[in-house]
Amino acid sequence: MNRRRRIYEGKAKILYEGPEPGTLVQHFKDDATAFNAKKHDVIDGKGVLNNRISEYIFQNLNDIGVPTHFLRRLNMREQLIREVEIIQLEVVVRNVAAGSLSTRLGIEEGTQLPRSIIEFYYKNDALGDPMVSEEHITAFGWASPQEIDDIMSLAIRVNDFLSGLFLGAGIRLVDFKMECGRLWENDMVRIVVADEISPDSCRLWDMKTNEKMDKDRFRRDLGGLVEAYSEVARRLGILTESDNPVAKSGPTLVKG
Ligand SMILES: Nc1ncnc2c1ncn2[C@@H]1O[C@H](COP(=O)(O)OP(=O)(O)OP(=O)(O)O)[C@@H](O)[C@H]1O
Ligand SMILES: [Mg+2]
Repeated sequence: MNRRRRIYEGKAKILYEGPEPGTLVQHFKDDATAFNAKKHDVIDGKGVLNNRISEYIFQNLNDIGVPTHFLRRLNMREQLIREVEIIQLEVVVRNVAAGSLSTRLGIEEGTQLPRSIIEFYYKNDALGDPMVSEEHITAFGWASPQEIDDIMSLAIRVNDFLSGLFLGAGIRLVDFKMECGRLWENDMVRIVVADEISPDSCRLWDMKTNEKMDKDRFRRDLGGLVEAYSEVARRLGILTESDNPVAKSGPTLVKG
């Protein structure tokens, strides 16, 4: 296991060379970062939960015909994925105003948006992931107009699926971020959903209490992050009390 070649180490995950060409092993760490890594902490159990939650979401997306990089989970912290050429964009889909949308445009957090809004951010840590328009994306060649169309239709399908999934768990999907990649199959290139979808990359509010069940608990120093992520996993039915990585006496509800 330790002889594997490390391809990349990011803030939350490590990528290793996979067992076959065209595959990678995605390892979920316990590190939490925010504000472009200016804030950093290690939160015991977070990687295990994100691996499980992301596995569940990606497997379901595969099952309903939304193409993703996900192949299968390997162990508590690792999953086998297809290697793709990551498109250097963070695609954000918003259903409810929060975060930078609220601060930039002065729209109160929690306001239901008239329709889902898709935003693009240029993936560049040195620049702080600035927001960009389709004009920038095509002018600088980060993605073609056809690829932008494909990315947007994937984003809408993922948003519809996730909104329903979380609704059934009593959770409001406020917004989420996804990454896409180019996957070569013979001579064909296909855009697929890559990276992770987890409480690190979504805003999830309890439907009844509006309590935050996502990385904002870390960004805003609310505490109880692992408990909140465990509760998300428990409500999705993917965490039994016996394999809860934190709570000794079963998952507990997070207090505001
Ligand atoms: N299927 C894939 N093939 C290749 N690279 C991938 C794939 N899925 C995700 N990645 C990349 O792997 C890295 C995962 O690491 P992590 O999320 O920790 O990075 P990060 O510190 O957030 O940096 P980044 O700004 O690049 O996301 C990301 O750079 C992501 O774009
Ligand atoms: Mg990342």
